[in-house]
Amino acid sequence: MPTLFDPLTAGALTLKNRIWMAPLTRARAGESRIPNDLMATYYSQRASAGLMISEATAISRIGYGWKNAPGIYTEAQEKAWARVTKSVHEAGGQMVLQLWHMGRLSHPDFLDGQLPVSASAIAAEGVARSLEGNKPYVTPHALTKDEIQSTIDDYQKAAIRAIAAGFDGVEIHGANGYLIDQFLRDGSNTRSDEYGGPIAHRVRFLLEVVEAVTAAIGPERTGLRLSPMNGYQNMHDSNLEALFTHAAKELNKHDLAFLHVRETASQPLLVTPLMRKIYDGVMVGNDAYDFARAQKVLDDGLLDAVAFGVPFIANPDLVERFRSGAPLNTARPESFYKGAVEGYTDYPFMGKAA
Ligand SMILES: Cc1cc2nc3c(=O)[nH]c(=O)nc-3n(C[C@H](O)[C@H](O)[C@H](O)COP(=O)(O)O)c2cc1C
Repeated sequence: MPTLFDPLTAGALTLKNRIWMAPLTRARAGESRIPNDLMATYYSQRASAGLMISEATAISRIGYGWKNAPGIYTEAQEKAWARVTKSVHEAGGQMVLQLWHMGRLSHPDFLDGQLPVSASAIAAEGVARSLEGNKPYVTPHALTKDEIQSTIDDYQKAAIRAIAAGFDGVEIHGANGYLIDQFLRDGSNTRSDEYGGPIAHRVRFLLEVVEAVTAAIGPERTGLRLSPMNGYQNMHDSNLEALFTHAAKELNKHDLAFLHVRETASQPLLVTPLMRKIYDGVMVGNDAYDFARAQKVLDDGLLDAVAFGVPFIANPDLVERFRSGAPLNTARPESFYKGAVEGYTDYPFMGKAA
């Protein structure tokens, strides 16, 4: 069985190790929603990861909903991302862009007063981090079939921009309660047309997004993230196992570069092993892994790679630290989603003072 330090081929990507950086919203793009040089520095510092998955990046104006997060739906955003990917490549790294539509988890404050959209007109419980502090989630507008088609077009256009900006590929964000996940689950999708009802219908939106993106940039440069857990960000499905094993079976037809499954390793994995039995391609896991747990899932043949989130925030040289058994820096959560350099590019490398 491979070690975490062994190379891995994932579609068109030849990766130097199996220690990936998970997608991490860091909210440093400012109100312009345009990436900047500070972000280029942050990602370049972490270029020793086998693959970096970018922070979630809005595919459209209506898909946006996180203060200071970046987008990939304008020319200016595309050009600015090109500077980030250039510096990552110069540092020897590889990086894919995470394509994000927040659906009902956005708020009219971000959308010039417009309602956010979703599979069905069902509000999430809890509060959105709006521009003016926390506000209750609103009841979203249920997408019409025409609007579904134009949303799929938005994913495709964003993927084309990502490749034009020099990314090595994209990760479609199908996880964490955002738009695609809202379509997948019977807790948020009560449609009566071919996009709702039985599992085969609820996965249709996901599969159509996958088709549109892969048709434009190639399946070998397309990854997908799913999160087969209940409870997180309001998500609920009455039969997670059936839903996600069906998705895995259908995804086999698309030959993606990788399937990224977020299921916490702090408890026994329930759905990931079932998906692994069905899914033929490269599978990467995430959530609450440390070095030993990650090597164990590779040893067990359960996954091909592991993505690390918070450990990569605090340790730009995480791969080297794992290799040498060095202690890890402690993350500072207060700067996860705000600030500039502090808590972002100032975590020390091994052997260097803070
Ligand atoms: C600050 C922060 C930002 C995050 N942003 C994203 C994101 O943009 N996209 C995403 O899919 N997950 C996001 N997540 C979830 C992480 O990718 C990951 O699933 C989570 O941190 C668990 O992995 P870990 O235990 O290795 O940190 C975020 C998590 C944190 C802590």
